[in-house]
Amino acid sequence: MITHTSYAVEPWTLREHELDTGLLPQSESVFALSNGHVGWRGNLDEGEPHGLPGSYLNGVYETHPLPYAEAGYGYPESGQTVIDVTNGKIIRLLVDDEPFDLRYGRVLRHERVLDLRAGVLRRSCEWVSPAGRTVRVRSTRLVSFTQRAIAAVAYEVEAVDAPVRVVVQSELVANEQLPTASGDPRTAAVLQSPLAAEEHHAQGPRLRLVHRTRTSGLRVGVAADHVVDGPEPTRTSSESGDDVARFTVTSLLRPGERLRVEKSVAHGWSGVRSLPAVGDQVEAALAAAASVGWQGLVDEQREYLDDFWARADVEVDGDEQIQQAVRFALFHVLQAGARAERRAIPAKGLTGSGYDGHAFWDTEMFVLPLLTYTAPDAVAEALRWRQATLPAARERAAQLGLAGAAFPWRTIEGKEGSAYWPAGTAAFHVNAGIADAVVRYCAATGDTGFERDTGVELLAETARLWRSLGHHDSHGAFHIDGVTGPDEYSAIANDNTYTNLMARANLLAAADAAERHRDRAAELGVDEEESAGWRDAAEAMHVPYNKELGVHEQHAGFTRLQRWDFAATRPDQYPLLLHFPYFDLYRKQVVKQADLVLALYTCSGFFDEEHMERDFAYYEPLTVRDSSLSACAQAVVAARTGHLNLAYDYLVEAALMDLEDLEDNTRDGLHIASLAGTWTALVAGFGGMRQTGEGLEFTPRLPEKLRRLAFCLRVRGRCLRVELRATAVTYTLLSGEPLTVRHYGEPLALAAGEPRSREVPRTGPRQTPDQPPHRRPNARG
Ligand code: BGC
Repeated sequence: MITHTSYAVEPWTLREHELDTGLLPQSESVFALSNGHVGWRGNLDEGEPHGLPGSYLNGVYETHPLPYAEAGYGYPESGQTVIDVTNGKIIRLLVDDEPFDLRYGRVLRHERVLDLRAGVLRRSCEWVSPAGRTVRVRSTRLVSFTQRAIAAVAYEVEAVDAPVRVVVQSELVANEQLPTASGDPRTAAVLQSPLAAEEHHAQGPRLRLVHRTRTSGLRVGVAADHVVDGPEPTRTSSESGDDVARFTVTSLLRPGERLRVEKSVAHGWSGVRSLPAVGDQVEAALAAAASVGWQGLVDEQREYLDDFWARADVEVDGDEQIQQAVRFALFHVLQAGARAERRAIPAKGLTGSGYDGHAFWDTEMFVLPLLTYTAPDAVAEALRWRQATLPAARERAAQLGLAGAAFPWRTIEGKEGSAYWPAGTAAFHVNAGIADAVVRYCAATGDTGFERDTGVELLAETARLWRSLGHHDSHGAFHIDGVTGPDEYSAIANDNTYTNLMARANLLAAADAAERHRDRAAELGVDEEESAGWRDAAEAMHVPYNKELGVHEQHAGFTRLQRWDFAATRPDQYPLLLHFPYFDLYRKQVVKQADLVLALYTCSGFFDEEHMERDFAYYEPLTVRDSSLSACAQAVVAARTGHLNLAYDYLVEAALMDLEDLEDNTRDGLHIASLAGTWTALVAGFGGMRQTGEGLEFTPRLPEKLRRLAFCLRVRGRCLRVELRATAVTYTLLSGEPLTVRHYGEPLALAAGEPRSREVPRTGPRQTPDQPPHRRPNARG
């Protein structure tokens, strides 16, 4: 855990003043740069010391057998693990005879700054070698949003008080040694030496390595080019071997003189292209980067981000740390998704190898909502990736004896990668999450081309799955039995309310879309009878309810299970999954993460106010938040039910998940869903934003702690700004054709440049629901 204040609180930057090598694993995740295609962890330029070296290429993985003590029909046989690809970040430095290594000598000054507007990581350091030579080292690193294959570093070393001979070794390194994995199931399987060498090349400042993964057969090419500027005499040489290519620069620096090396690194991979083709691909990417040069890459990056912030920024007055955290969150979510382009957006983005680099329902239910209203093109691409994996999802459904498509619980390339079926395959709700993302994207953008080409197919195939997974009972009610909902401390339960309500929405959306796009539906074999069957199932969907308690059940029978003995559970026994058997968790009332409460948010139309309040009050004392996906959902529902201070506390937890390493696993990569949840807590929670069939609806309310909250949303090609203060809210359409939104149900017609303000109703005092002992969020509201 990061217990001290590691990062200075500033609105647009994340600044580290001190180097604590014990915290390197965490800071490497926090300072990771990515564009969704290439990811570089924030490792120090010289490679060591490190927590976890990491360079990732979205979609590059290795397969490995999934072992079972007892085999069973339909168990996935092969798992996928993201691999650490060829590392292009490394720039080693020799100062006179000694390696520049912060574990030796003296660090006079150290600073790393992640600049959220410039999209670069800057480092500066002043170091005295054990022999007493002082040098200043500065570097700036970026992973380009505009040229997706490119990452680049500008590296400078300066002599301070005496002449020094410096040697800079800029390298490409494949098959780096990785630390062994811990026993935590959430870390990655470590695959040593996953890359087999195919080609190495070094000529002047240009380096290239091409490798192939041993089993998955993916070809990975990484190439680098350099521009050197140093005093005479500065000499260079280069060499390469199977797993290392090196460009070496030697110079003699007098005090005040600098040696500067600009390095661009191109990445490419393919499962089908030949060795020469992949080699050419990375050379071509280098040529494109060279055509704009280092400064050009920096300028393009800034321009890209200026445009993003103009349509996506969230302003928070009253809590500077949350202001910083929400921008940090937006930046990292953008990094995870911006250029993923028909690849998955993993739970950790490309910031670490946690969860083996897999994508889960996190993408559609947590990450895509933010991107829908800030970078909608990335959402269309993410859903087209799901569409591209339909063959595997159909095959999986058939294997399970089901119709339509069964999307995987966790995957990199589309096949089910979960070896534990009760919390994997049985979590069918991932399918409804995908449908939900389609509906939201189409409603927010009006992209009918996408709906026709991609949306209808995803909706129809998932509707087919629900129709075959569930059944009508003798009274006609539709049940979905034996599934696992979001709460992974319950499994294989009947009629999980979240799943049923999300499936209901999925079935209706599929029937509606098939009506709007009859030709396309016919191409997919959907006829009127089939879509009528979807509507019947949706209308008859059973939702379990305990009349005595007057609350909805998380799943049928949940409220009569024995309650978990919270009083006897020590604080160090959380997360429960690391200290108690699933067998016991499954048969008691204990909730890992918002499940019924998530339904209160995502299916809010189903619940009246009274039930929302009662259900929230019932599930709060049972919810232990052993998943980072929980706090943000609880924040939204707490805000909707008027518990604004509690909502604030949950917002803070979601926002600081990684900045303060609250779950003690930020070293494995960032919690992208929780970061996205920071935005959700603010926009859907305090902003009260909801996408309905009739457009956007707002029920805003500000917690006492904040003076002002303002955010921008992309809606149907327009930019809508919402500015909320304690007693009033102002809606401004910044551009585009008129748009109608709803404020507490009242339609407001907005014309560009004509702000409209409305009062914000006050909430009366309320009894705040309890949380389990030791699991109350830190009070900040
Ligand atoms: C949660 C899942 C989530 C996964 C990846 C688990 O701990 O229970 O809901 O999808 O982490 O973030």
